[in-house]
Amino acid sequence: MATWRGDAFAKVNFTLDVLGVRPDAYHDLRMIMQTVSLCDRVVLRTGQPGPLSAVTNLSYLPAGRGNIAYTAAEAFFARLGQCADGVSIEIEKRIPVAAGLAGGSADAAAVLRGLNELYGLPLSEETLLDAALSVGSDLPFCLRGGTKLAEGRGEWLTELPLLPPCFIVLCKPPCSVSTAQVFAAFGNHRPSGRPDTEGALRALRDGDLKAFAQRMYNVLEPCSPTGARERAEISRALIDRGALGAVMSGSGPTMLGLFDREDAARDAYETLRRQYKDTFLTTPVREI
Ligand code: C5P
Repeated sequence: MATWRGDAFAKVNFTLDVLGVRPDAYHDLRMIMQTVSLCDRVVLRTGQPGPLSAVTNLSYLPAGRGNIAYTAAEAFFARLGQCADGVSIEIEKRIPVAAGLAGGSADAAAVLRGLNELYGLPLSEETLLDAALSVGSDLPFCLRGGTKLAEGRGEWLTELPLLPPCFIVLCKPPCSVSTAQVFAAFGNHRPSGRPDTEGALRALRDGDLKAFAQRMYNVLEPCSPTGARERAEISRALIDRGALGAVMSGSGPTMLGLFDREDAARDAYETLRRQYKDTFLTTPVREI
C-alpha cells in the first residue's frame, strides 16, 4: 500500500483567441495560460480493497465513473496495460466548479502525475500528455503548468517568460457555465474583438506587466451566455481598485484582475469577497 498527496492548481487564461473550427468540431485556440496558487488537494492510495474509486468532498459532484479524475486514472491504467483495482482517489475541492479555472482538469492531471510517480514513472512524458489530452483539452497544460502559450485544442505548449511579480484576484459570479455551451454561443457570434497575442507576448518578454495587462482579452467573454451583468460589475470593481487589467478566464464565468501591488489586490479581494463567496487572492505558480 502506498500514498501520494499533491496539489492540483487552478489555471487562468490571460488571453484566449479562437482561430477556427476544426474538422473534429473542436476549436483551434491560441491562449496565454498561467497556473495560480489556488488548488485542490488530491490523495491517491494503492492497495485498497475493491475497484478503482474516486470521491470528493462535494456531494453534487459525481463519484466514481463520471468524475474526470476517475477517467484520468482509467486512461493511465489503459496505457500501463494494468488493472486499476485497489486504487482510491480522494479530492478536497477548493477551486470552484464549472468556473473557467480548469478545476476538474487540474484534479485529473494531478491523478495522472501522481499515479505515474506511485508506479515508478512507467509512462513517458509524451505518453502522459497523450493520456491527458484523451481526457480533456486543458489537461496537457495542467500537467505541465507554469506560464505557457497553448495552441491547437490546448495541447501545443510553448514555455513563456515568467511574469513580473504580481497578484491575481479571482472572482466567480454565482452561476456556472458549461464549456461546450460557451463555444456553441461563440459560434453564433461574430467576434467583436481579438486579443493582441503578439503584443502580449512582447510585453511578457519585456517584463512590462502594465502593457501585458492592457492586452488581456478573451473572445469568449462578450458572447458567454451567463453572468454578463455580474462580470461587468466585477471587472469595474477590480479596475476601480487598481487592477492593471481584468478579463474572463477560459469559458468563464470567473473574472481575473491582474495587480502589481499587493495592497491593491488585497483591497479588491476583501471588497469583492463580501458579495461573491468564490473570491480568491492568488499568485502565479512558476512550476508544479
Ligand atoms: O476537451 P474538453 O472536454 O474540456 O472540452 C469541452 C468542450 O469544449 C468540448 O466538447 C467542445 O465543445 C469545447 N471545446 C472546443 N475547442 C477546444 C476545447 C474545448 O470546442 N479547443
